[in-house]
Amino acid sequence: MKRFTQLIGSGMMMMFSAAACGSPADETGGSSQPAPTPFAGKKVLVAYYSHSGNTRAVAQQIAQAVGGDLFAVETVQTYPDAYNQLTAQAQQEIRAGFMPELKDTVPNMAQYDVVFIGSPNWWGTYAPAVKSFLAQYDFSGKQLVPFFTHGGGGMQHCESDMHTQLPQAKFLPAATFPGRSSGANAAQLAVWLNKLAQ
Ligand SMILES: Cc1cc2nc3c(=O)[nH]c(=O)nc-3n(C[C@H](O)[C@H](O)[C@H](O)COP(=O)(O)O)c2cc1C
Repeated sequence: MKRFTQLIGSGMMMMFSAAACGSPADETGGSSQPAPTPFAGKKVLVAYYSHSGNTRAVAQQIAQAVGGDLFAVETVQTYPDAYNQLTAQAQQEIRAGFMPELKDTVPNMAQYDVVFIGSPNWWGTYAPAVKSFLAQYDFSGKQLVPFFTHGGGGMQHCESDMHTQLPQAKFLPAATFPGRSSGANAAQLAVWLNKLAQ
């Protein structure tokens, strides 16, 4: 587990240096056409669970990029702050397939065409709170777009476990981002979003 924290630290340094560089589009003198807004004309929800803020930061970036509504998935019972206790409880819950009770529901889920769903990678899969969230709604007729933040493990079983939980749902390809409080690399995020919307 210590490895996750160390990797996040080095990841943040990479983020700061990336943020200092201009994007290739900045160097063209403005003659190129701006990329179309991904999912323009669709009603988008960006739902996420975040324990320490990294997934929330990416969710906020996505919502801004696609003009979506944000929804924070929160559990009624809070998790322990102490890292060792948190990881032990999370492991136990994941092994048991436990689905914690959630605080709020999305007002009028029916209105959305596209639902992004974000989670930290916990023990190689998504957080139990997200499992609860996915179990609560009817996603038929919608596009589901998973995204994950991680501490070095990348995707692991996050995407495939989601497909297993909702075998009938229409999923678009998921993305993973190194967990950083400053969010995702803007260029990486834009590439993924533009590919999804094609
Ligand atoms: C309980 C727990 C389990 C974790 N397990 C993994 C893991 O298996 N693989 C990994 O790459 N990162 C793991 N991490 C690191 C988190 O995925 C990473 O820090 C993430 O960005 C946290 O997101 P958040 O700030 O939105 O909660 C774990 C973190 C916690 C707290």
